[in-house]
Formats: sequence, structure tokens, C-alpha cells
Amino acid sequence: MTGIARLMALAPGDVLSCLVKKVRYRALARRYGFDPWHARSPFECRAYKREVVRLADSLQPGATLEVGCGLGEIVSRVARGQRFGFDIDAAVIPAARHLHGDRCQFEAAGIADTEKIRACIGRSAGADLLIMVNWAHALAWPELSEHVRRLADSLSIRHLIMDTILPGVAGYAHHHTTDELADLGPVLQSIASGDTVRRLNVVALSRP
Ligand SMILES: C[S@@+](CC[C@H](N)C(=O)[O-])C[C@H]1O[C@@H](n2cnc3c(N)ncnc32)[C@H](O)[C@@H]1O
Repeated sequence: MTGIARLMALAPGDVLSCLVKKVRYRALARRYGFDPWHARSPFECRAYKREVVRLADSLQPGATLEVGCGLGEIVSRVARGQRFGFDIDAAVIPAARHLHGDRCQFEAAGIADTEKIRACIGRSAGADLLIMVNWAHALAWPELSEHVRRLADSLSIRHLIMDTILPGVAGYAHHHTTDELADLGPVLQSIASGDTVRRLNVVALSRP
């Protein structure tokens, strides 16, 4: 989808916020040195982010962790419970704290850093929900699923929200399938995002 097509697809109320936040986030990108993608993609500019928050809220999690959280735009809007954001890019974490540090805890960690994530959460009861959107397409399924399983087992995570890129959409390394996701547990929901790029899936993670 081009930038203009993306703007046209937004609710009218979101267009102004999208443009204003892009300017603000560009200044933050200069200050913190994070990937310019985040400055191009504030919450109001990308339909899938609101859709993910809606799915997360429907699960009423007591504790949510988002891995690959970027500026924390999704996890910070989950309505209830404890919220944690992790990202492999250490440059984006101080900016996420600047924006949403009053509501969420942010730390630098990748999906493979199970021990670090567990130590940060430090919660014997574990976490209810893991969110991973708009980056999992970079990893092949065997590697990705292994990391998710390890993290889910370590923290007794009950649900996963993850996107899968629609077949035929160019520019993504991997187009994971609903059948692959079902390796992790029953796929409770799979909805097409308004961005016409991805499906948003809710998986009930099976216990080992
Ligand atoms: C396109 S951004 C999406 C950010 C956020 N999920 C959103 O939708 O607003 C992808 C983010 O995933 C992070 N990322 C990529 N690979 C990762 C990994 N293996 N573990 C954790 N984060 C990762 C990147 O650093 C980047 O901040």
C-alpha cells in the first residue's frame, strides 16, 4: 500500500493525528537515533495497530508482553493489567520509555532472549498474552516457533497474537500460514487486517 492509499484508508479523525505524530516522531528519531520506520508509522497511521489492541483487550490479559514493540504504541494501549515491551533494537527503548514509560516497562531484548525477558518480568505467575506483530515475517517458521515455544513455556503464556502476511504480498521474507500457527495451539481467531497486507491471529498456546 502506498503512503497516500494508507492515508485515504484511515478514519477521518485519524488523518490529522497521523500527520501531527509523524512530525513529532521524526524529531524523536533524530534525538534517539531509532529506525525511521517508527516515525513513518504512528498508531493512527496504521490500521492494524488498533485492530491488535482490540483483539488484546478482548482477551482481558492480567499481564501482556509485546516482543518487537518498537515505540510501544500497541502494548501501551492495552487497557488492563501489567504491560511490558521488548525490542531487539536498543535505540528505540529510551524513546518508548519517553512516550509510555508511565504505563509500561520497556527493555532491550530479542525473541531469543528468554532468560532476560523472564528476569525483567519477574512475575512468578508468568504472563497471559504475547504480542508479536510486523516483524515475525523476517524469521523462518522453525526458528520462530522454537523461540515462541521457549518463551511461552518459561512464562506460562496463554495466548499469542501474531500477524501473518497474506500470500502474494511482496517484500516479506516469510508468509507464515494458519496451519503453521496451529503447531503452537488452536487458532481461535484469524481476521484480515484493513491494511490488506496481513491477517491477525489469536492462538491459544498449548502446554508442553
Ligand atoms: C516494523 S517494527 C513494528 C513495531 C511494532 N510491533 C508495531 O507494530 O508498531 C518491527 C520491530 O521489531 C523489532 N524486531 C525485529 N526482530 C526482532 C526480534 N527478533 N526480537 C525482538 N524484536 C525484533 C525491530 O527492532 C522493530 O522495532
